Amino acid sequence: MTMESPKTGILILAVVAVAAAAGGLLGWQIRQQPQTVPAAVGYGKPAGQDHLRATYDPIHFKPAIDTATDAQCLACHREVLDDKVRERSPAGISAAASKAWYQEVSTYAGEQDTFHRRHLVTPMAKELMNLRCTTCHQGNDPREEAPGSSATAMPQSTDAFTLRKQVNPETTCLKCHGQMNIEVMGLPSPWRESKDMFGNSCLTCHAAIRTQRHQVNYLKTEAIEAAGAKNADTCYGCHGGRSWYRIVYPYPRHAWDGMAPEVPDWAKDRPTESEARFRMTATVNPK
Ligand code: HEC
Ligand code: HEC
Ligand code: HEC
Ligand code: HEC
Ligand code: HEC
Repeated sequence: MTMESPKTGILILAVVAVAAAAGGLLGWQIRQQPQTVPAAVGYGKPAGQDHLRATYDPIHFKPAIDTATDAQCLACHREVLDDKVRERSPAGISAAASKAWYQEVSTYAGEQDTFHRRHLVTPMAKELMNLRCTTCHQGNDPREEAPGSSATAMPQSTDAFTLRKQVNPETTCLKCHGQMNIEVMGLPSPWRESKDMFGNSCLTCHAAIRTQRHQVNYLKTEAIEAAGAKNADTCYGCHGGRSWYRIVYPYPRHAWDGMAPEVPDWAKDRPTESEARFRMTATVNPK
């Protein structure tokens, strides 16, 4: 290889000098940043806690997350309820004019809204559900976004959330966004096609079958029955009408009055009670 020409040498020197100056400047600017995140920015404790400490706040980890209230989470994460979707996408498409397949259930109402708001604060969410932050969020590990990956970090249970996700979809979303299990119900075809045969009501059968249902602290049991009696889409919405998944959720099979004593094969491995942390008898924190 030839020796560097003096010109290249000077160029390299200049680049190094500029980089060093920029680095110094940046470092200086970073040091000039306030060390606490103001509450108004969202992330950061109102009392004043630096960003890193807030990120690793024990509340994100077991066991503290089990007793966390919504108010505690919202003190730092207010934006999950305050943010609204854009009226128009950057490409100019109006939110009001775009309906997705999951918004075609007849119960869909109101303007386009965010995921969190549709589960926590919109009228239907409040009427039928009683979800909390910790119903879905069971932990968050900023280190690798993998549960249980560190021997020294605060303990996380390994099914608290799945890799790179902030929840465990199988134990949360799938409960309300799985397929309708038409095989076990003995329906001749998908609900959209067979509903007229059954008077377009789930209660044609479910007034007497699997009547011990929704006894969980994140659902409003009576309100669901009342709404479902008026419009089967209320039931269908959570049991196939908004199915993000191709699989069904293996619901617990609670004993009901008039139930046959023999257990069908498909139900042999099913639990007979809801998950412990959601039972009506479980201790629930205030919101
Ligand atoms: C003391 C303030 C504080 C509290 C209280 C708090 N968080 Fe956080 N949380 C943070 C900060 C800071 C981050 C890191 C954000 C970042 O760096 O993008 C974070 C990150 C997260 C993330 C990951 C966000 C992402 O984009 O990766 C989730 C999910 C989360 N928090 C949920 C919760 C839940 C649920 C609660 C209540 C159980 C809670 N947080 C309580 C401050 C807090
Ligand atoms: C229905 C389940 C569910 C509930 C209830 C819920 N979340 Fe989330 N949250 C999610 C999912 C799913 C994500 C996105 C996860 C991902 O991107 O991997 C998320 C993301 C977040 C994030 C990351 C930033 C963002 O907006 O994407 C924060 C912070 C957060 N949630 C806080 C909360 C707080 C605080 C509450 C209670 C007020 C709450 N969540 C209630 C499911 C839920
Ligand atoms: C307890 C039942 C329940 C659980 C658990 C649940 N959802 Fe939902 N989800 C609903 C209901 C009900 C709606 C309809 C809300 C509406 O139309 O106003 C909905 C709507 C949605 C929508 C559409 C929102 C819109 O803009 O129309 C998305 C996306 C979604 N859920 C994703 C998820 C994900 C991801 C999870 C798991 C983190 C989850 N849901 C957990 C009941 C649930
Ligand atoms: C033709 C009668 C019939 C109709 C109509 C019907 N179901 Fe079912 N459903 C059944 C039977 C039978 C079972 C299984 C009973 C058992 O556990 O042995 C069942 C079980 C279920 C289960 C539990 C599935 C599981 O895997 O444990 C859900 C959830 C359910 N039905 C929801 C609905 C909803 C929502 C509708 C209306 C959109 C509906 N069903 C309409 C007969 C019906
Ligand atoms: C907001 C969402 C939502 C709505 C609306 C809803 N369900 Fe469910 N359903 C669930 C969830 C979640 C479970 C599982 C609860 C658990 O783990 O015990 C469930 C469980 C069931 C089961 C299983 C019962 C058992 O043995 O434990 C049946 C049957 C059922 N639902 C039928 C219906 C019918 C009929 C309607 C309308 C009247 C309806 N659902 C409306 C979310 C919903």
